[in-house]
Amino acid sequence: MDAVVVRRSVEADWERSRAIRLRALRDAPLAFASTYEREIAFLPEQWKARIGDSAQFLAGNADGEVIGTATGFTDPGEPGTVNLVAMFVVAEARRCGVGEQLVEAVVAQARADGASRVRLHVVETNDGAARLYARCGFVRTGVTEPLPHQPSLLEHEMVLALR
Ligand SMILES: CC(C)(COP(=O)(O)OP(=O)(O)OC[C@H]1O[C@@H](n2cnc3c(N)ncnc32)[C@H](O)[C@@H]1OP(=O)(O)O)[C@@H](O)C(=O)NCCC(=O)NCCS
Repeated sequence: MDAVVVRRSVEADWERSRAIRLRALRDAPLAFASTYEREIAFLPEQWKARIGDSAQFLAGNADGEVIGTATGFTDPGEPGTVNLVAMFVVAEARRCGVGEQLVEAVVAQARADGASRVRLHVVETNDGAARLYARCGFVRTGVTEPLPHQPSLLEHEMVLALR
């Protein structure tokens, strides 16, 4: 896709960040460990804190519209591990490499921050996302856990070692 710009969110982006995240939760409710019902209740301060506490990226198209997002955050219990979460690209912009650019942005930031690995969880039925991650070098660890709001579905852990 032409002229896609991936950039790190700043606090002033909180409404854009909220809009794309709520769209993700509405469009792909089984792709995420959280829910629309939970996050629609977040206050502005919570959206701002989410940006401040993580490395959140927004992908924008040539018209400046947000078409995708992904976030990396360091696990407080595992300082060398960055979790890649909240990966989403709007349906009309998929299969054009935006998802890959977002993964690369999170991984590059993790590397720059000195992390030793990036970890994510992908629901067992989400073959497209799993393929994207495999293409970016992530491998399944064999660890699974139930999706919190739909425990009949399992999430597979995947990891990219950085060093
Ligand atoms: C998963 C998602 C982020 C992929 O975004 P995207 O911008 O379409 O991804 P890319 O175009 O960068 O895809 C790169 C590669 O990943 C693989 N891939 C991505 N989506 C795929 C799909 N639906 N089916 C098969 N392979 C897919 C392909 O190998 C693709 O390369 P190709 O198009 O040259 O074949 C997007 O489909 C999405 O937002 N889905 C709903 C939310 C979601 O599932 N998030 C992930 C939670 S873990």
